[in-house]
Amino acid sequence: MDVFEALYTTRAMRRVTEEPIPDEILKQMVDAAVRAPSGANNQGWKFIVVTESNIKNLLGDLYREAWDFYIKEYYENNPDMGASKVLDETKADQVVRISKSATWLSENFHKVPAQFVVLSRNDPSGSSIYPAIWNLMLAGRAHGIGTCLTTVLGMFNQEKTFDALNIPTDKGWRINAVVTAGYPLGKWGVAKRDPLEDVTFLNTWGNKPGWNLEEPLFNY
Ligand SMILES: Cc1cc2nc3c(=O)[nH]c(=O)nc-3n(C[C@H](O)[C@H](O)[C@H](O)COP(=O)(O)O)c2cc1C
Repeated sequence: MDVFEALYTTRAMRRVTEEPIPDEILKQMVDAAVRAPSGANNQGWKFIVVTESNIKNLLGDLYREAWDFYIKEYYENNPDMGASKVLDETKADQVVRISKSATWLSENFHKVPAQFVVLSRNDPSGSSIYPAIWNLMLAGRAHGIGTCLTTVLGMFNQEKTFDALNIPTDKGWRINAVVTAGYPLGKWGVAKRDPLEDVTFLNTWGNKPGWNLEEPLFNY
């Protein structure tokens, strides 16, 4: 696969089938993850690849609990994630789509074929793990596997997740993400984002580059 195709079309693919992912692919996803850089090449990471139904069920329950807490605390129990408060209509539609897809994931978390629990430690900036997570997702994309980076489990239900997975609590580990993975139900496409012009300056703050790109530089 062309590297730009992978870069532009790897997105939150939450809706997936229950078809198991072959071990060779799971293995390559983690193998690509550990090729990523980390600060001082520290490699303070662990990946727990969960494919067994009883453990996926446990994580599914914990994820739903965490997701419900998130919606309650951040969106006053409004499952559309505040779309009604977003002024721009196009953005509001996007938020509604994301909220529906995210609700689907919280209800079906236990059914996704693989859940990658990603942990790190000794990382004061908190950023060393994200190149590895992105490598894992890109490697999945190259094999036609849809992934979604999720964080609510680590944020709101870490203690019970440690318990469920026998993770030692005295070694400094924290859960950065759980990446769900499976064969997509949806279609691949290039993500809609704010225009470059709105987010890029040349040389100094406020100096617009004048690139005026209407469309992404990669078409799919
Ligand atoms: C740091 C981070 C945390 C995220 N946490 C969650 C999550 O807990 N649950 C979820 O369903 N999606 C989660 N997402 C997925 C985002 O909602 C998604 O990437 C974003 O809406 C853009 O979607 P798109 O790439 O399909 O356009 C997370 C993404 C990132 C980068």
